[in-house]
Amino acid sequence: MLKVQGLSAGYGAADVLHGVDFSVEQGTVVALLGSNGAGKTTILRALSGLMPARGTIDFRGQDLGKSNAGQRVALGLAHIPQGRGTFGEFTVEDNLAAGAYTIGDRRQIAQDMERWYTAFPRLAERRRQQAGSLSGGEQQMLALARALMSRPKLLMCDEPSLGLAPAITQEIFEIFKTLNRELGMTLLVVEQNADLTLQFAHRAYVLESGAITVSGTAQDLRGNEAVQQSYLGV
Ligand SMILES: Nc1ncnc2c1ncn2[C@@H]1O[C@H](COP(=O)(O)OP(=O)(O)OP(=O)(O)O)[C@@H](O)[C@H]1O
Ligand SMILES: [Mg+2]
Repeated sequence: MLKVQGLSAGYGAADVLHGVDFSVEQGTVVALLGSNGAGKTTILRALSGLMPARGTIDFRGQDLGKSNAGQRVALGLAHIPQGRGTFGEFTVEDNLAAGAYTIGDRRQIAQDMERWYTAFPRLAERRRQQAGSLSGGEQQMLALARALMSRPKLLMCDEPSLGLAPAITQEIFEIFKTLNRELGMTLLVVEQNADLTLQFAHRAYVLESGAITVSGTAQDLRGNEAVQQSYLGV
């Protein structure tokens, strides 16, 4: 579904990513692990077209090099940014509508909204509430539901567990699992919580200082001593 080759990008003069190669197979969950500052967020930003990058990004057989961020969303690439990125002044409902900006069909938007309200009852109860006044867990759910409104084929999520209590984190990961196992959605998840992520991911990559240093099945990585020492609580 996604094949990234030689991805380099940075801020100003210096590169943060130094020729990153990785791929995501359709229908799988892929985890991207790495310490603070390794460049994980930069990868997702480059993939979704929020910053310029060099190298090739093949998404479902199409070279994304020439498409802008909006066109990438329309092609099925959704990005839930680190820190959620919901519009705090807008209501829950307006945030969901904003997530559907690439969808032209009003009926489809209304149907999808009801569908995600059913899946996220806490959002349904708070349709008219300002997003900025939601709890952290509710905001992460809104960010997720908003991304789903674009009908993504590949959902990229940056640090979904950040700042959330373990129970809410577990709930978010259960939703990811359902999206993948029942709806066949492909997921690329950036996480500090490697233990939890490797329990449900199929494959994983470790990024260090802007380059991939380890890759394999989630099981391989759980058994890898260097990964255990740096990223797992063992
Ligand atoms: N807007 C920016 N301007 C300048 N440098 C930046 C900017 N954003 C990130 N960087 C730098 O790029 C490097 C990689 O940052 P990035 O946010 O991609 O890391 P990360 O792996 O997502 O880290 P974290 O786990 O803390 O979120 C860091 O050294 C960071 O300081
Ligand atoms: Mg980050």
